[in-house]
Amino acid sequence: MPGYVDLKDDDRALQLLRLLADGDVHSGEKLGNLLGISRAAVWKYLQHLIVLGIDVKSDKGRGYSISGGLSLLSAPSIKSLLDATAKPLVEEIDIFYQIESTNSHLMQKKSSSGCVCLSESQTGGRGRRGRHWFSPFAKNIYFSVGWEFEGGVAALEGLSLVVGLVIVKALATFGLSDILLKWPNDVLYNNKKLGGILIELAGDPAGNCKAIIGIGLNVEMNPEQVANSAIDQPWIDIKSIAEEVALVRVPSRNEIVAAILNQLMPMLKNYQQLGFEFYRGEWMRSMAFLEREVVLSHGVTNKFGVLRGVSSSGALCLLVGGQEELVHGGELSLRLLK
Ligand code: BTN
Repeated sequence: MPGYVDLKDDDRALQLLRLLADGDVHSGEKLGNLLGISRAAVWKYLQHLIVLGIDVKSDKGRGYSISGGLSLLSAPSIKSLLDATAKPLVEEIDIFYQIESTNSHLMQKKSSSGCVCLSESQTGGRGRRGRHWFSPFAKNIYFSVGWEFEGGVAALEGLSLVVGLVIVKALATFGLSDILLKWPNDVLYNNKKLGGILIELAGDPAGNCKAIIGIGLNVEMNPEQVANSAIDQPWIDIKSIAEEVALVRVPSRNEIVAAILNQLMPMLKNYQQLGFEFYRGEWMRSMAFLEREVVLSHGVTNKFGVLRGVSSSGALCLLVGGQEELVHGGELSLRLLK
């Protein structure tokens, strides 16, 4: 059984996945007939789907199904939902079934400005502080967008904070409100992690550089899978928030990605000109733990203080022993003291 499966568009396993995506039970015979292959070959391709982490149920005498079905990512669907401002700024949308990391894919591309990369799963998804990003198949959103900036990395300070704000605004369009931002890069709901942002930079630190903006958002996590993962902090997904706030319908991943792109692309186009300062007031309104006692950790070093907000460049403003201190980004982690 292969350990890595790349479902190319002509692959039988992909055709099988599309047939099973409706969630119904399909007999091996029917699947074989539709694909023009034997039942034994159907079984072989089903193993490819299982390797990808897809929960294929086998019902003796009846056939195979994916319980609950799967709604797959689709570039045409996403494109059809882009508004007139965002559409011309999106060069291409690449969707993979499995990839090491959507960020790495765009990083390796020669020209990635305006390129969007999504994957149904990642084998080496990266989080901040060298962490692994749990990326099970077709459940969540893993996507990256490339953008080229002139004027060096200094002009990009605060960019990842604004990406968080873009996510908050995009989710609000579906009625998903009360989502907060934990400095510098976490998206929270009820103090539980809903998503995160990882921006990676390459090029000339003082001149032209490219930013790869990586976004991971939990849409429908499987608690059993999470229990077997390395996730060690409280988490939440869009599906549970939608149930909690009694949304009529959980937005699809295609709709969420399009809503984020509709906010993200114009923001990227104007960021160098506007800078973080333009977004500061709005960002503070979505800031988690404001005026609360917090602890900021850097490795084994802890700093205790009261969270006062962010500066015009996006640095964290902390009241420590009566003095305000500014903390710039880095390998830092912030949590509530109590
Ligand atoms: C965090 O640690 O909170 C940031 C997580 C960022 C994960 C996303 S998923 C898509 C993109 N590709 C990666 O390898 N990482 C980012």
